[in-house]
Amino acid sequence: MSENIVIVGAGVIGLTIAYQLVTENGYDATSVNIIASDFPSTGSDCPEYTSSKSGAHFRPFPSKSPQELRDSKLARPTYKFFKKLAVTNPESSVKWIQGFDYLENNDTLYETTAAGYTEDIDNFKIIEKSQLPRGIEFGASYDTWAMNSPKYLEFLENTLSMKYGVNFVREKVESLKQVCQLYPGALLFNCTGRGLQFNGGFDPNSYSIRGQTLLVRAPLGCQYLNKTITYQLANGSWIFVIPRPLNGGIILGGTKQIGNLNSNPSQNDTEHLIKLGEAYFPDLMIEGKFDIRRVNVGFRPARNGGTRISSYKEDGVQVIDCYGFGGSGMEMSWGAAMRAIGLIDHGFKL
Ligand SMILES: Cc1cc2nc3c(=O)[nH]c(=O)nc-3n(C[C@H](O)[C@H](O)[C@H](O)COP(=O)(O)OP(=O)(O)OC[C@H]3O[C@@H](n4cnc5c(N)ncnc54)[C@H](O)[C@@H]3O)c2cc1C
Ligand SMILES: *[C@@H]1O[C@H](CO)[C@@H](O)[C@H](O)[C@H]1NC(C)=O
Ligand SMILES: *[C@@H]1O[C@H](CO)[C@@H](O)[C@H](O)[C@H]1NC(C)=O
Ligand SMILES: *[C@@H]1O[C@H](CO)[C@@H](O)[C@H](O)[C@H]1NC(C)=O
Ligand SMILES: *[C@@H]1O[C@H](CO)[C@@H](O)[C@H](O)[C@H]1NC(C)=O
Ligand SMILES: *[C@@H]1O[C@H](CO)[C@@H](O)[C@H](O)[C@H]1NC(C)=O
Repeated sequence: MSENIVIVGAGVIGLTIAYQLVTENGYDATSVNIIASDFPSTGSDCPEYTSSKSGAHFRPFPSKSPQELRDSKLARPTYKFFKKLAVTNPESSVKWIQGFDYLENNDTLYETTAAGYTEDIDNFKIIEKSQLPRGIEFGASYDTWAMNSPKYLEFLENTLSMKYGVNFVREKVESLKQVCQLYPGALLFNCTGRGLQFNGGFDPNSYSIRGQTLLVRAPLGCQYLNKTITYQLANGSWIFVIPRPLNGGIILGGTKQIGNLNSNPSQNDTEHLIKLGEAYFPDLMIEGKFDIRRVNVGFRPARNGGTRISSYKEDGVQVIDCYGFGGSGMEMSWGAAMRAIGLIDHGFKL
């Protein structure tokens, strides 16, 4: 197939759509173009380039609404794909590990394993009360994946660019209309995180949730190289560890601040994470303190109403929106790309 395709956005979502078009759907790579302000190789210090700030792991959770249940289904194809990728392409950094959820509060949705939580998850087990850490009311373990997100993105970028010859253009786009003029007749994918609008501006339902994490060096043989643990504390704070495979260290996180657009590391947040880290993950310290190698700040592209994966036609072109993944874009990436590509209207021509 040789339809000209332009993907706006090169976070995990835009890159995964390109990867699937080329490796699974038989598209000619030279007809696929990706335009973005930032790529994995340029976005490492930019909080608006969210994907490389991601933990990143898959943490299933019980749905609190029909919309969450709908979105939770996007994570399952990714789970299946990563199980394969971890074996065929270890350089992708995707690694299969054990996940642990620990809750300080009683939570009926978790206790009853409500819909969205355990479906298609391997080796899901509720942990017996007597086996739980002190102060924990609910715990569960399951098989999941973790990745070194900068390495995974680099894997996608290099495969697309160097192996297959996809065209990468670094440019900030003001509106989708501008892209249409540059690539007449092309099919557009809108993967800008916050939903760049056809005539400029962003989707008014989109908003950012700031997240800060610490990248720390672990002691040799540390148990957290092999598992990811998330504590949900009684006062609403979360503290988690996520290993970054291929010697990428361990992520100790994280914060969630709606609408906070401070792109610099906050000392207060760092101190908060250190304090909780000392209490919950003391064996991650080396000689009594955390060996912090980097502080990550990222803006999760959230959206009222959840993810938007849909198609429309404007000025004679088909636009497929695929954005609004909030704190779950890595885990939903493969499923989201499948759904977005499924919307391509092959009959549609100018
Ligand atoms: C601290 C933290 C931890 C996280 N942990 C996890 C996790 O463990 N698991 C998980 O699944 N998710 C996690 N996430 C969420 C995940 O990172 C996001 O959901 C995901 O990165 C969203 O990907 P995206 O491709 O939609 O957006 P982005 O990665 O932000 O990419 C957007 C792209 O659009 C481009 N763009 C935007 N506007 C324009 C424009 N006007 N012109 C040109 N280009 C434009 C940008 O340059 C970029 O290339 C975490 C996020 C944070 C901050
Ligand atoms: C959780 O429920 C148990 C049993 O009903 C109760 O004993 C315990 O105090 C509750 N914990 C909290 C934090 O409310
Ligand atoms: C992105 O999605 C929004 C929300 O649907 C839409 O209004 C906008 O036109 C899209 N932007 C582009 C560039 O297609
Ligand atoms: C990881 O876990 C396996 C067992 O599941 C264990 O044999 C191995 O030693 C662990 N590695 C580290 C670094 O903890
Ligand atoms: C929440 O609880 C933890 C542990 O009890 C405590 O260390 C922390 O200061 C509390 N407040 C916030 C904002 O996390
Ligand atoms: C400090 O950080 C914690 C965790 O993000 C937050 O709950 C608290 O409100 C912050 N305090 C200030 C003064 O910013």
